[in-house]
Formats: sequence, structure tokens, C-alpha cells
Amino acid sequence: MVQPISIAASIPKPAPSVEAVRRTAINSNHWYVVAQSRELTDQPLAIVLWHQQIVLYRDSHGSVHALEDRCPHRQVRLSHGQVQGNQLECIYHGWQFNGTGACVDVPYLTEKQRLPNCRLRTYPVREQDGFIWLFPGDAAQADSIPLLGLPEWDHINYIASYTTIDTQAHFSFLIENLMDMYHGRLHDDLQAWANPVLRDIESSPIRVDAHYDAESYYKIDKIYSVGQLFIPAMRKLRPTNLDVSYVYPHWRSVLGSDFKIYCLFCPVNATHTKAYLVHFVSLGAFHRLHKLPVRFRRFVKNRLFNAARGLLAGLVEQDVLMMEDEQRAFEAMPQRKGPEFNPAISKVQQLIHHQATQP
Ligand code: FES
Ligand SMILES: [Fe+2]
Repeated sequence: MVQPISIAASIPKPAPSVEAVRRTAINSNHWYVVAQSRELTDQPLAIVLWHQQIVLYRDSHGSVHALEDRCPHRQVRLSHGQVQGNQLECIYHGWQFNGTGACVDVPYLTEKQRLPNCRLRTYPVREQDGFIWLFPGDAAQADSIPLLGLPEWDHINYIASYTTIDTQAHFSFLIENLMDMYHGRLHDDLQAWANPVLRDIESSPIRVDAHYDAESYYKIDKIYSVGQLFIPAMRKLRPTNLDVSYVYPHWRSVLGSDFKIYCLFCPVNATHTKAYLVHFVSLGAFHRLHKLPVRFRRFVKNRLFNAARGLLAGLVEQDVLMMEDEQRAFEAMPQRKGPEFNPAISKVQQLIHHQATQP
């Protein structure tokens, strides 16, 4: 029988209307994930984060810079250009800009002419745990706002896999999908959990934590456990904890002791959301493996990198279908609100609204 849940401290604000939630902006004063480290090579990379067109480039020392993606000369995108040493060169007339956004070279300048005094907007950017994080808000606040880390990315006992999410839907649909574990039937053979029961919720102005009791199809404790990924007959349901957290603006979940999943958000605009889904399997149960040389363990970690990518991509495809249907239905009738039985959803909506209204 389903037990009543307990709800701990919450945000002292009235619930926003569903229409307001679906049009809510992001709180820019947070760190968002705009690329996976490997995507940024020696070529500039164009990204869009909540309507802002931004170009990333890596200088000759490997450091990442983020500038507005607009040449001040004729307003074309700098991301069409190329990296020259520590500078980014516009493709059109070859003006060059450094990481502070200053124009440092105009190739056809005469002796009597001076460099233009134009400075592009720059963004605080960090490269950490396999991803590039960008702070689109007030740069003065960037150092005081914590960045959600992924300590498992480099940890030798975790195997990482990731896939991208690109959906024509507001980011609230994605986070609600991730926080509502009652949608396991959508995933059929791909699902990792079953029979969830929401046990309790904690919420605050910065996060929502929903704790479910559930059963897991997977247990990673034997060398052949990986076969469970491909052979449904090897799966056996076992009781486990399933904890999901909206740590604004990102998501993190823990399934039993073997799995952790993150969803790193990059909302593009009110009807388009990109994100990275990052999955970690723990090798913590393999005690004999831990006695082997670190070099070998690193080799195993690297060889198994992205082993679960196909599984993740399959899950994402199913979820995207649902979210885009929800977005279409919302646009057709913005005031319509369906019945909702999972209280985690209203907590998530309050948090989205609360964050967007912060100064
Ligand atoms: S438009 Fe960029 S250099 Fe002219
Ligand atoms: Fe899902």
C-alpha cells in the first residue's frame, strides 16, 4: 500500500500558475553547462544560453574563453572565424580579439589609425569535471555561487557515459520529467527502476529533494553484471532507494549504491532546452579490482567510457517525445492544467518561479 509522504520546509510563496511556469526565465546568476570539454577543439564553438549567442574558444595554453558571438565591426558571428594563438579572428576582415573581449589587431590598419576602442562582453567560464560551465549573469557574483561538481567524472571507481538532450520544450518540462519517477512505464525494457513510492520531499529556495522507495533492475557486483544492460533475463528486481534532486539549475539522482545520474542544463530559450545526461556506474563492489595498479584501473575506466550511451540515448528519445507533446499542448491551450498526484511537481514549479524572481 502507498504510504502518505512527509514534506519538509518549503518556499513560502503561493504556487505560480502553470502558464507562468512554462514561460519562466532562468535565473542567470548560476553556472550552466554549455559544452562537453571534448567538443571544444582548436575551432571556436557557438552556443546559445537563454537567448544569448556566445562563442567559446580555447587559447594556445588550452584555457577556455567565452565572448559574445558578435564582431563589433559588422555584427557577424565570431564563431565563423578561427583561433590564432591566444586570439579569436573574425572571418570577414580578420580583426582579432583577446580573451578580455578587446580588439587587438586590425590587419589593414595604417600608421595613422588606431585600434578601435570596442570591447565585447565576456562571460565567466570554467572547465571542470569534463564539462564547460558558464555564468551568464552578473559576473561579480560568479565566484560566490557554487558550481555543481561531478566528482565521479575523474574518480577511478566510476564509469561515465553521457548523451545529449535537445528538446523543443521549456526547461520546466525536462526537470519535471526527471523529478517524477512515476513515469517508468514509458521506458519499458530500458527502465532501471520499478514500483516507486514517494516517501518524502524536502524543499528550500535553492533545491528540491524527492526520496522514493523503489526497486532496481540492476546490481553491479559481479564481473558479468554488465550483461544486465543487454540481456533482460539477467535482471532481477531488488528493493532500493531512489533519490532525485533539483539542485537549481541542474539535476542529480542516486539509484541504490551503484548508479548516479546527472542532468546538466543549458536552456536555449522558452521553447528549446539542451542538456547533458551523465551516467555513472560504481565499481565500488569490486574489491579485488581496487588492489590492481592504478594504471590498469584507469585503463578499465577509459575502455568502458560511454558503455551505457546507447541506453541513455534510448531513454532520452522516449522522454523527448513526451516533453514535446506537452509543449505543443501548452501552446495550444496555455491555461489548461491536468490533475497532478505527485507533490514533487508543485515543489519544482515553485522553485523555478522563485529562482526566476530573484534580484
Ligand atoms: S565583420 Fe568582423 S572583421 Fe569585419
Ligand atoms: Fe524518463
